[in-house]
Amino acid sequence: MKNTIIFGVAFATLAAAGAWATPKLQILPTPVADRTFQFVKPGKSFLGTPLEVDSLTPHTLFVVGRNDSGELFVQASTMAFMAGQWAQEPGTSVEMVKTNRNLGPVVLDTDITEDQLAGYNLVLLGKDNRLYPQIAPRLSGSGSFVEVVKDALSPGRDLMFVSDKQAAFYLANKRLYFKSGAYKGFFSFVKTRALIEQENFAEALYSLDDPEGVRGCGKPVILAIGHKETLPPAMLKVAAERNKLVFKDLRQWLNLGAKNAAVATWQAAMETCYACHQGQDGVKRYRNFVPNQPEHSHHTKIASRFGLACNTCHKGKTAMVGYQPGR
Ligand code: HEC
Ligand code: HEC
Repeated sequence: MKNTIIFGVAFATLAAAGAWATPKLQILPTPVADRTFQFVKPGKSFLGTPLEVDSLTPHTLFVVGRNDSGELFVQASTMAFMAGQWAQEPGTSVEMVKTNRNLGPVVLDTDITEDQLAGYNLVLLGKDNRLYPQIAPRLSGSGSFVEVVKDALSPGRDLMFVSDKQAAFYLANKRLYFKSGAYKGFFSFVKTRALIEQENFAEALYSLDDPEGVRGCGKPVILAIGHKETLPPAMLKVAAERNKLVFKDLRQWLNLGAKNAAVATWQAAMETCYACHQGQDGVKRYRNFVPNQPEHSHHTKIASRFGLACNTCHKGKTAMVGYQPGR
């Protein structure tokens, strides 16, 4: 498998229409609405203690009707598991512990509180629940679909309606599985650069083989391999190039402790991210949306903790910074 690995990738077909997921599944109101839904957000962990720290915390509750099917409950818990791999920490605080508040992300329709409605985005599974009648007039999908409604049950809070178990399977095992891997891999890739700058080659090497480190991108890889026939050859080519840079060349320079060569290789790998995400170097733009600033810009916090400026990494072909739409 090592020669065919595709890294940090997902798929033009999917980006175009969510097509690879399962036949007939619709993503509404736009084909990327599930990509830009805010599942996690920057928050604090260990609030009210000296351990307090910035972290990515859950921003979504997964809601199921008390009387709905066991299959939907299974998918809701799978979503919680996948989202939990993406978020770094549930957002623990002394206050929550004192008031015995549940940090768990799966909630029954009958138990959801006003505070929860005001504080979180919702993923609502199925129709047999007390929230569905409130949201139904704003839905346009039919059959199997995932539909995002802005400012749904509370101002500033969005709701993602997941029509049935097929749509739920997609969201849990494809979308959220991908997100957790892509973001873990991204953050580790950034940290790896910082470690190279500090000449901490052992730790940088460790990150390459850590399933939660750069290798976290194995999730996108696995998904992509499963749909390889439907991926454009040009995309596979830039993906293969990136794998070679990260897992072969970079590893070699780290092993030798060759800082300048490691930096140059890391930077060349970043150019491949930009090739696919922005459409550069003759590569089509395969990522058809601008990532959400709150969770994406967590990488800038990692970089600044190591004392790196934006232009350490963002220069030349990778100069683009800013989250303006349309980029
Ligand atoms: C072969 C093309 C390709 C390469 C190379 C690539 N990506 Fe991606 N990446 C994509 C596509 C396509 C998506 C969007 C998938 C989708 O539709 O959800 C994506 C999505 C992501 C996301 C998730 C964004 C979000 O908000 O959902 C992250 C994070 C990411 N890539 C990181 C990286 C990093 C870091 C690199 C370079 C080290 C990289 N990618 C290289 C194609 C690529
Ligand atoms: C250690 C290297 C590094 C540093 C330092 C860094 N970034 Fe990034 N940044 C990356 C990588 C790698 C990507 C490509 C991943 C992607 O496109 O999702 C990226 C992507 C981005 C994007 C692309 C979003 C889009 O539209 O696709 C923005 C915006 C951004 N960074 C802003 C910043 C800002 C602002 C700073 C400084 C406060 C900064 N970055 C510091 C490595 C870095």
